[in-house]
Amino acid sequence: MSKNVLILPGDGIGPEIVAQARRVLELVNQQDNLDLELTEALVGGAAIDADGVPLPEATLEAARAADAILLGAVGGPKWDTNPDFQIRPEKGLLGIRSSLGLFGNLRPAILYPQLAHASTLKPEVVSGLDILIVRELTGGIYFGQPRGVRLKEGNVREGYNTYVYDENEIRRIGRVAFEAARARDKRLCSVDKANVLEVTVLWREIMEELSKEYPDVELSHMYVDNAAMQLVRAPKQFDVMVTGNMFGDILSDAAAMLTGSIGMLPSASLDVDGKGMYEPCHGSAPDIAGQDLANPLATILSVAMMLRYSLNAGATADRIEAAVSQVLDQNLRTGDIWSEGMQKVSTTEMGDAVIAALQA
Ligand code: NAD
Ligand code: IPM
Ligand code: MN
Repeated sequence: MSKNVLILPGDGIGPEIVAQARRVLELVNQQDNLDLELTEALVGGAAIDADGVPLPEATLEAARAADAILLGAVGGPKWDTNPDFQIRPEKGLLGIRSSLGLFGNLRPAILYPQLAHASTLKPEVVSGLDILIVRELTGGIYFGQPRGVRLKEGNVREGYNTYVYDENEIRRIGRVAFEAARARDKRLCSVDKANVLEVTVLWREIMEELSKEYPDVELSHMYVDNAAMQLVRAPKQFDVMVTGNMFGDILSDAAAMLTGSIGMLPSASLDVDGKGMYEPCHGSAPDIAGQDLANPLATILSVAMMLRYSLNAGATADRIEAAVSQVLDQNLRTGDIWSEGMQKVSTTEMGDAVIAALQA
């Protein structure tokens, strides 16, 4: 029976990078007889413009019905000043994650050896880098209640959010991380702020408790400020990192730069059954949108993750990753990963090259 992939291009560079990823998906669908049906829907600013809301009911229904979802990026200055905070593009993305229960966010930061010189860090610091950041995605301060801006005594406005996790939420993301570590180098570093925040005291306690079920995995703990420093000092010390929603957001952008560019980092956001949404870790890059400059590789690598985790097509995923590596061997680089002696290509040309490598 055919499987349905919902494609959500979104805003800014979203449609440009997704167009290339879609070409790749269409090609491997045909080459490897995957029997995938692709449909598109609106989310984010594009949906606000068309329907007045960032996550139209029809898009949410299509997302629920799909076997997997591919998302570009949402957001942009056009919508940043919308006075109704609920009518922001980002709410569309957060709404899908939350409504579909996509709590397990995997962000693999892998350095392709060809890009050792594209990172702002010294090649010897990053060469051989292979980190997996496991980020909790449907809880924490992103979703905690109460939240808002209120008037307090003296007519002073105060903004507030709530950082909350219950033990079940911590346990389920912990299991994702321990399982991932078990399948890799068996080292898990849990990142928290247990010296200040009670919610992360509980986080640490639950991770310790879980580690008894995973005696083969070595668990360590690190405060988030130190983790940020260690990521740029000596990133190869890490195998798997697990952390909450906001810390994971920040640390994964830092980790992205270790791989050469944020344009290289894919992600998977999974529910309890492994159904998922796949997207690059970067945003809609308004500064380069509409100019055919963006790096489509994070989105193309997200397609590979989708094939592996949700569509039972691991061999096809391997082929896509090998094609990306071949294109880098050909010295083709979008601006974000370009360095002296390399050939600068556009978003479309990068897509062309990956397609050609898959056809060779
Ligand atoms: P961003 O990731 O969009 O851009 C940061 C910098 O990285 C920019 O200089 C951009 O040009 C560059 N960059 C990002 N992706 C690139 C790519 N594929 N190729 C080359 N360069 C790339 O972050 P930002 O500027 O803080 O946010 C812009 C908008 O994107 C905001 O509205 C934000 O809310 C949204 N955002 C969305 C997502 C998402 O949809 N998952 C993620 C992050 C930010
Ligand atoms: C990401 C983005 C989102 C997040 C925003 C756009 C809601 O930064 O996917 O990393 O903070 O989770
Ligand atoms: Mn982010």
